[in-house]
Amino acid sequence: MTDRIPLLEIRDLSHRFSDGTVALSEVSFSVEKGDFLIISGPNGSGKSVLMKHLNGLLSPTAGEIRLNGVSISRDLVSTRKKIGLVFQDADSQIIGQTVERDAAFGPENLRLPRAEVDRRVEKALKEVNLLGKKTARPHVLSGGEKRRLAVAGVLSMDPEIVIFDEPFSNLDYPGIRQVLQQLVYLHGKGHTLIVITHDLGKVLAHGTRLIIMGNGRIIEEGEPEELLSSLEKRGIRRPPGLKAAEMTWLK
Ligand SMILES: Nc1ncnc2c1ncn2[C@@H]1O[C@H](COP(=O)(O)OP(=O)(O)OP(=O)(O)O)[C@@H](O)[C@H]1O
Ligand SMILES: [Mg+2]
Repeated sequence: MTDRIPLLEIRDLSHRFSDGTVALSEVSFSVEKGDFLIISGPNGSGKSVLMKHLNGLLSPTAGEIRLNGVSISRDLVSTRKKIGLVFQDADSQIIGQTVERDAAFGPENLRLPRAEVDRRVEKALKEVNLLGKKTARPHVLSGGEKRRLAVAGVLSMDPEIVIFDEPFSNLDYPGIRQVLQQLVYLHGKGHTLIVITHDLGKVLAHGTRLIIMGNGRIIEEGEPEELLSSLEKRGIRRPPGLKAAEMTWLK
C-alpha cells in the first residue's frame, strides 16, 4: 500500500448554479507531476466550469480539490500562484504596454525583487520563443503570438500546473501549430499540463492521459491510445479533426 499524495486531486466535485443548472456531478480524478492531461467533451459538458474550480474562480457545491494534499480553498492566493490558467481569450489576459512588461505583471504583483522578476520574464519569454519581441507592443502580435504571451505571463509565476482552456480556438493553421509545439515543448521541459479542448484530434497524440466529459460527469478516463481504441471498438466515431495520418500511432 502506498500513501503517496498526488500533485492535484479532485474529489467528488459537484457544482450547481443558482439557476438550478447542474454543471458538474461527482467528478473525481487526480493529476501527477509531469502529466499531460487532456480533458475533452462536447460543448456544455462542464469543461470550463471544472477549470474555474481549479484555481478557485468558482467554489464547489460539494467535494473538494487538493493540491499537494491541501485543500485549495484554504489559501486561494497561494493556489493561484501554483495553478496557472491560460484562458481561451488571449486578449483578455494581456495588460502590459510591451511584451516584457506584460510578462512581468504577475511576478511584480508577487512583489518579488527586480532581479528575480527580470530572470523569470527572460526565462518565460524564452520558453515561448518571444524573446525577440520583448519590446513589441502586444496588440501588434499575431493570434498565436498573443496566446504564447499569455502562456509566458502564466509561466513567469512559476506554477506547478498550467491549464489551457481551448488553446486552439480562433487560430489559423500556423497559429495552431505554434501552440501545439509550445505545449509539447513545455511538457518536454517537465511542466505538468492540463489541456481542455473539444478539439481532441490536435493534441491526442501528445497527451499522457485523457478524460472525456459528458453532462458534467467523467464518462471515460484512461491513456489516450487505449481509450481511443476502446471507443472505436464500441463503435464510437473517431474524434472530429483527427486525420487518418494522425492515427498511425494507434495499433
Ligand atoms: N454562470 C452560469 N450560470 C448557469 N449555468 C452556467 C453558468 N456557466 C456555465 N453554465 C452551464 O454549465 C454547463 C457547463 O458549461 P461549461 O462552460 O463548463 O461547458 P464547456 O464544456 O466548457 O463547453 P464549451 O465546449 O462550449 O466551452 C452548461 O450547461 C452551461 O450552460
Ligand atoms: Mg468551455
